[in-house]
Amino acid sequence: MANYTPKNSNSAPSTSTPKQDRMVVPTSKSTSSPRKSLKFLIYGRTGLIGGLLGRLCEKQGIPYEYGRGRLEDRSSLIADIQNFRPTHVFNAAGVTGRPNADWCEFHKTETIRTNVAGTLTLADVCREYDLLMMNFATGCIFEYDDAHPLGSGIGFKEEDKPNFFGSFYSKTKAMVEELVREYDNVCTLRVRMPISSDLNHPRNFIRKISRYNKVVDIPNSMTVLDELLPISIEMAKRNLRGIWNFTNPGVVSHNEVLEMYKEYIDPSFTYANFTLEEQAKVLVAGRSNNEMDGTKLKAEFPELLSIKESLIKYVFEPNRKTSAV
Ligand SMILES: NC(=O)c1ccc[n+]([C@@H]2O[C@H](COP(=O)([O-])OP(=O)(O)OC[C@H]3O[C@@H](n4cnc5c(N)ncnc54)[C@H](OP(=O)(O)O)[C@@H]3O)[C@@H](O)[C@H]2O)c1
Repeated sequence: MANYTPKNSNSAPSTSTPKQDRMVVPTSKSTSSPRKSLKFLIYGRTGLIGGLLGRLCEKQGIPYEYGRGRLEDRSSLIADIQNFRPTHVFNAAGVTGRPNADWCEFHKTETIRTNVAGTLTLADVCREYDLLMMNFATGCIFEYDDAHPLGSGIGFKEEDKPNFFGSFYSKTKAMVEELVREYDNVCTLRVRMPISSDLNHPRNFIRKISRYNKVVDIPNSMTVLDELLPISIEMAKRNLRGIWNFTNPGVVSHNEVLEMYKEYIDPSFTYANFTLEEQAKVLVAGRSNNEMDGTKLKAEFPELLSIKESLIKYVFEPNRKTSAV
């Protein structure tokens, strides 16, 4: 239970003892079981994930407020916690770069300030106040390698160490994950290529790739937010912590997604491919491609759909503009 006077920061959080991942409240997994009332403090109001989280809380009747503080400003985070007295903190704030992650290559200190110093500051403040922090992180810290070859079905596991540092964005995310894993009040959710049913959102992966002149065609793990964000709320209720691959099981390639787009949305849509080498010429930094191992999340949430099933159920069927055959 959170304590809104800070505890001695040298002592261990009362909700947690030794290691990560255990359920501190091993009661019924049903969301309908009686629980203390929830109150979520969310960072990232203007972002894709933070915006959707607020709407989800409204839909589920969960009291929530967006944090006013900036992640790197410890006193502003403390003010938010003392004013709102949340039961959980959701961190969907981060520097992702506009128009894309290449921005981070030219704004390194700004990127460090939020993604490293800011994330650590929030984790540390939450620890001081005995609060679980649900941390939206990224799986773009891995790339296919000899032990996890493309097409092998062997995905990166939660305990694997990052192996992709090809962009400054990913580098900061990999570094902060290594540090945050020492905080046992944090649940790190490794998101990848987030997709939502709002096909007009500029940060939706489908909208992005459907507007590129050319796309690479590589199978990747991806996150269908309409299915997974409610799961993040359930994970908070279950007091889960540690690192979680937060993607739908399996992989889908760019072309497979765009073929679904043609089938469900616009049969006249066309696209063109280029190679990774050709892509590298139009990007400043590298991009990660990988498969994440979905076993851990699937064991906790057996109803979790594979990426292709989830895309159809949550994104393409609700947006269907073509007639069903
Ligand atoms: N979209 C992706 O491709 C993707 C993939 C995997 C993981 N993720 C991770 O998931 C998280 C959320 O992603 P997103 O796509 O929702 O990001 P987004 O759309 O770029 O939104 C980022 C949010 O963070 C806020 N923010 C940035 N710096 C801040 C700071 N110092 N203090 C407080 N708020 C700050 C922004 O608010 P202001 O506008 O006020 O700065 C904005 O609301 C990020 O950590 C991102 O790295 C994203």
